[in-house]
Amino acid sequence: MLLVWLSFLAVALFSLPVDGFPQATAVAPQVTAVAAKGGGGGERGGGGGTITGSGIPNVTDAKNPVCVPWYGIRDAIMGGIFQGRCGDNARAAIRLAFHDAGTFSLALQANALPNGGADGSLLVDPNEVLRSENNGLQNIVSLLKPLPAQFGVSPGDILHLAGVLAVLACPGGPVIPAYVGRSAPRNIAPTGLLPDPEDSVNVLLARFADMGFKSREVMALIGAHTTGKQRFVDPAAANTTFDTTVQIWDTRFCNTPLDTETADPTTVLPGTFKLDSDVNFATNPTTAPDFNRFIGKQDDWMSEYAAAHEKMSLLGFQAKDLTDCSEILPLAIDLKNLAEATTGKGKPPTDPVIDPVKLEAAIQQFRSIWLVSQ
Ligand code: HEM
Repeated sequence: MLLVWLSFLAVALFSLPVDGFPQATAVAPQVTAVAAKGGGGGERGGGGGTITGSGIPNVTDAKNPVCVPWYGIRDAIMGGIFQGRCGDNARAAIRLAFHDAGTFSLALQANALPNGGADGSLLVDPNEVLRSENNGLQNIVSLLKPLPAQFGVSPGDILHLAGVLAVLACPGGPVIPAYVGRSAPRNIAPTGLLPDPEDSVNVLLARFADMGFKSREVMALIGAHTTGKQRFVDPAAANTTFDTTVQIWDTRFCNTPLDTETADPTTVLPGTFKLDSDVNFATNPTTAPDFNRFIGKQDDWMSEYAAAHEKMSLLGFQAKDLTDCSEILPLAIDLKNLAEATTGKGKPPTDPVIDPVKLEAAIQQFRSIWLVSQ
């Protein structure tokens, strides 16, 4: 046992920088408070006034020897690809996680037919990413594709760690447990399994049920569109966003108009775009109560989203066969203390208006080692 720990310590202490990207520096022990309840396995949040330091765990604090290499991989993704921010690459990585895992089918599995799942097949097969439903994911795939060979790990682990980190790159995004140890994909994902915005609510819910999701979990997952842009549904309006605050992980997506008196899920504000499927979820009697219950309930949504995303990242796998390396994850940035001090009339009844100065200060503090100068 002593030998195992000595060799682990040696690896931890002498880890080299990854591709010129510096390893995290030792700041995590300074964190003194829990500011928000994260979801799934995460119970941590950043952005609270009492937290000092960046809250980014360092490899020298690693607990599980299996997780040691993942600190450098975390930095290669969070720094090298996302640069610590909720930009286009992070947003694409969240969608990529869904498009990889969302081809899982319980029916195919029951019949021992070729199946999809959270296996990273989108990083492996050159044809899968060329399917029309994967339009817009080619760039993030080309950025992540070299990493499995570079680090000697599986494509599924890289792709789904990228999804977990991308949510954390978006201020307000919860901590989702990060598992490693997925096997290599067994086949290219079957076609025709990813949902289409023109599908009816019944068709969509049936497809998600075949992945193993209940309607309530689907409504939590769909909130990921809080950081979304569209380019291919209406190319003439390319880059319109699904809510007015695309750079943060808030519940405004459920309720874009700022005044509950006029809140109407079918209202489209200038510069924004609503997918027909999202409007249908918000208005259909079967799904509307679950869709709308997150309005203004950031903590509820964070925790339910994290649990649903964790499940998504495991489709086709079992947690008991994998290693939980959540110890590598940075604190979530809590939006609570970043609100503008608005009062009275005009005060948003749902999500607070985030003060851009406080937001940037939180990003500078909690994502410090991954930022590049702008
Ligand atoms: C009913 C199910 C869903 C449908 C029909 C759907 C459809 C779409 C469509 C059409 C786009 C725009 C693509 C483009 O034109 O560029 C989009 C974007 C996006 N979707 Fe979904 N989606 C669904 C579920 C999900 C789920 C479960 C997640 C994640 C958990 C997700 C995450 C995203 C993200 C993050 C974007 C923005 C990507 C970017 O800005 O680059 N979607 N989705």
